[in-house]
Amino acid sequence: MPFLYPLFFCSLFIVVYSQPSHPKGYFIDCGATELSVIDGREWLPDTNYVSAGVPKSINIPDIVPTLSTVRSFPLDGNTRRKFCYVVPVYRSAKYLVRTIYFYGGVNGKDSPPVFDQIVDGTFWSVVNTTEDYARNMSSYYEGVFLAAGKTLSVCIASNTYTNSDPFISALEVVLLGNSLYNSTDFGKYGLALVARNNFGYGGPIIKFPDDQFDRYWEPFGDSNPTIQSIRNVSVSGFWNLPPSKVFDTELISDQGKPMKLHWPPGPLPNSSYYIALYFADNRDTSTGNSRVLNISINGIEFYRNLNVTQAGVVVFATHWPLSGLTEIKLTPVIGSDVSPLINAGEVFDLLLLGGRTVTRDVVALEKMKNSLENPPLDWNGDPCLPRQYSWTGVTCSEGTRIRVVALNLSSLGLQGSLSPNIAKLTALTDIWLGNNTLTGSIPDLSQLKRLKTLHLEDNVFSGEVSPSLGDIDSLRELDKFVDIFSFLFLLNIFWML
Ligand SMILES: *[C@@H]1O[C@H](CO)[C@@H](O)[C@H](O)[C@H]1NC(C)=O
Ligand SMILES: *[C@@H]1O[C@H](CO)[C@@H](O)[C@H](O)[C@H]1NC(C)=O
Ligand SMILES: *[C@@H]1O[C@H](CO)[C@@H](O)[C@H](O)[C@H]1NC(C)=O
Ligand SMILES: *[C@@H]1O[C@H](CO)[C@@H](O)[C@H](O)[C@H]1NC(C)=O
Ligand SMILES: *[C@@H]1O[C@H](CO)[C@@H](O)[C@H](O)[C@H]1NC(C)=O
Ligand SMILES: *[C@@H]1O[C@H](CO)[C@@H](O)[C@H](O)[C@H]1NC(C)=O
Ligand SMILES: *[C@@H]1O[C@H](CO)[C@@H](O)[C@H](O)[C@H]1NC(C)=O
Ligand SMILES: *[C@@H]1O[C@H](CO)[C@@H](O)[C@H](O)[C@H]1NC(C)=O
Ligand SMILES: *[C@@H]1O[C@H](CO)[C@@H](O)[C@H](O)[C@H]1NC(C)=O
Repeated sequence: MPFLYPLFFCSLFIVVYSQPSHPKGYFIDCGATELSVIDGREWLPDTNYVSAGVPKSINIPDIVPTLSTVRSFPLDGNTRRKFCYVVPVYRSAKYLVRTIYFYGGVNGKDSPPVFDQIVDGTFWSVVNTTEDYARNMSSYYEGVFLAAGKTLSVCIASNTYTNSDPFISALEVVLLGNSLYNSTDFGKYGLALVARNNFGYGGPIIKFPDDQFDRYWEPFGDSNPTIQSIRNVSVSGFWNLPPSKVFDTELISDQGKPMKLHWPPGPLPNSSYYIALYFADNRDTSTGNSRVLNISINGIEFYRNLNVTQAGVVVFATHWPLSGLTEIKLTPVIGSDVSPLINAGEVFDLLLLGGRTVTRDVVALEKMKNSLENPPLDWNGDPCLPRQYSWTGVTCSEGTRIRVVALNLSSLGLQGSLSPNIAKLTALTDIWLGNNTLTGSIPDLSQLKRLKTLHLEDNVFSGEVSPSLGDIDSLRELDKFVDIFSFLFLLNIFWML
């Protein structure tokens, strides 16, 4: 679901205050050639994090610097390819990922392309910015993911509905505190933001520096009355560490009546959601009458007898089924005639993670890539996953332990050498590398015990195929051939020296 993001940069006042330390992570201005500073934060050019695509400029005056350039990736017929940004991360840490899109007509068409976004091996969502763009607005998507390795990849990918080159304007990857959303099993799930709102608030999006992790809290009002009161709610006791500013405003019902909140605003797909609702009593002194609420969602009891104190309280569900429109009802319990109120809420869709290619194979392929002078453009991110987005020429096994089983890189015009690390891809059964200009020696492939087919013809390798190929189990039935070269031929194994 796309969200609004301020399109124009109107920093008329420079407010001097002591900022909390900057959020830790990466703020990447896609397509930019130089650093820009927005709200005291540096946005970096993207060249160190991505190898494919071309930078393009958007021809609209006075646009926010992060939106004024994009990186655009080639749409190549019907080939499904993903193009990934790869950022270094702390393994097992949790990150907020935000992608920002503003089309600006960069590839000539009137309407922006619709495409997919992917984090590591997991399909995250469709990126459809059509509606926002028609209103001259940018769009953003936010998710929370665990870093399973030393890098995290965020990828843009074309799909059947993509009709022009996909693009991206900006990317944020922010390290989150340990306790944030920690009731979620991040080994199994990612969180895709559906809505995060400050209720009864009408100002600009609350984000860094109010939110130390630069989460976006959007304004939300409806027909319920709103209240504003500057209070000091200490948020350190909330595991999700919401900004204390969200407790400055709330929606409240008319005296003693139940409150109905139609939130999140749009219909939702049938799925499981993480929901967190934040409350703090606005009264300065205790009148002895506690504000105690029952909460139901779509008629199902969510929480009973919630005592909303001045210190504030959050209630959350980790796997709550929702489908279609959502109605949250807050009812004062008998004996508490104080009106229900609510300050803020977050809803995330639970994304089942797509898994990862076996690390050993990923490392071997990365090393192979490094020894090629012109590896295929999409050789970044997870080599096998999501399934329809494996790297060019890479075929993988099914099941839970995902291995590389075939490499077909013939006729790709590849230059450079063939890394000996290819021999570490021990699940390989087929290798086609014919008709390239690979140089250097042919590595020892005797570790590839399952190899059935090897095509190395039409390259400029020097030296000979190692005779130890004869040790490969799958070739043993042909031991009767004395001359290794002749049985290589019979086995459909070609080479050209
Ligand atoms: C993208 O969104 C627009 C407007 O909501 C919709 O009309 C269109 O069908 C969507 N495109 C795809 C491919 O989902
Ligand atoms: C969007 O901006 C363009 C040019 O800046 C303008 O012509 C158009 O009317 C705007 N559209 C909307 C819906 O604001
Ligand atoms: C979440 O973090 C809080 C605060 O550090 C801790 O008390 C709690 O046990 C954690 N919960 C889980 C499930 O790890
Ligand atoms: C909030 O706390 C600050 C410093 O701790 C104090 O100066 C201010 O008066 C407090 N405000 C309220 C409304 O209590
Ligand atoms: C949502 O999906 C679940 C499981 O697929 C199904 O049991 C349930 O009936 C669906 N609910 C709605 C409202 O469609
Ligand atoms: C609600 O919490 C307040 C402050 O902790 C306490 O004084 C009050 O007795 C509680 N009310 C109920 C009904 O538990
Ligand atoms: C609040 O929930 C409790 C427990 O389900 C129930 O006994 C009580 O009647 C509810 N109060 C109201 C006002 O709905
Ligand atoms: C290898 O890839 C080339 C080019 O993509 C294709 O034409 C050829 O059929 C593939 N070979 C095999 C055996 O899959
Ligand atoms: C060899 O590869 C080139 C592209 O690098 C291609 O144009 C040519 O047709 C290929 N030759 C054969 C025989 O496949």
